[in-house]
Amino acid sequence: MLYQIILVIHSFMRWLVLGSLLTTLVSAYSGWLHPRSYRPSDQTLRVVATSIAHIQLLVGIYLYTISPIISYYWKFRPSFGEAIEFPFFSLIHISLMLIAVVVITVGSSTAKRLKNDQQKFKTTAIYFTIGLVSILMAIPWPFSPLVTRPWIRLF
Ligand code: HEM
Repeated sequence: MLYQIILVIHSFMRWLVLGSLLTTLVSAYSGWLHPRSYRPSDQTLRVVATSIAHIQLLVGIYLYTISPIISYYWKFRPSFGEAIEFPFFSLIHISLMLIAVVVITVGSSTAKRLKNDQQKFKTTAIYFTIGLVSILMAIPWPFSPLVTRPWIRLF
């Protein structure tokens, strides 16, 4: 039951992660390509997106500890040929998502420290783009060739 609830939350939070990253990227690219000053709202978007990514990371780590798919993988180590679902979530999903969150965190804290507004926009744009691409690759989309999961998970 708890597992089901956490899975629904984790599945739904992907949309918050993607939405906040995309909004921050629109602000970062617009400020970088059409130079303007770095406003408090740009900072808020960046900090909120980073925080949502951190919360999703924590939910993901918790899900990892209770998921039957993960425990089955570490117990029996099914090979790739048997069912990609197991190594996908046990290794690929977690690795790419961890890399993404680290890149987003480093980008956000670097942008915060920079004094030049154009540098702030540019740094946010580059780091967040890399993070977003990594996340998009690691999500089990309904059209994914590896593992498919629903767009929205209901109980
Ligand atoms: C930060 C960005 C992340 C996003 C956007 C994300 C997104 C997703 C999505 C959409 C699913 C499919 C949910 C469903 O079945 O409906 C999923 C499953 C899963 N995620 Fe993540 N995830 C992220 C990070 C992580 C991290 C860091 C971990 C582990 C440390 C993790 C562990 C898992 C596990 C174990 C499952 C499968 C659980 C199961 O079916 O038993 N996720 N994730």
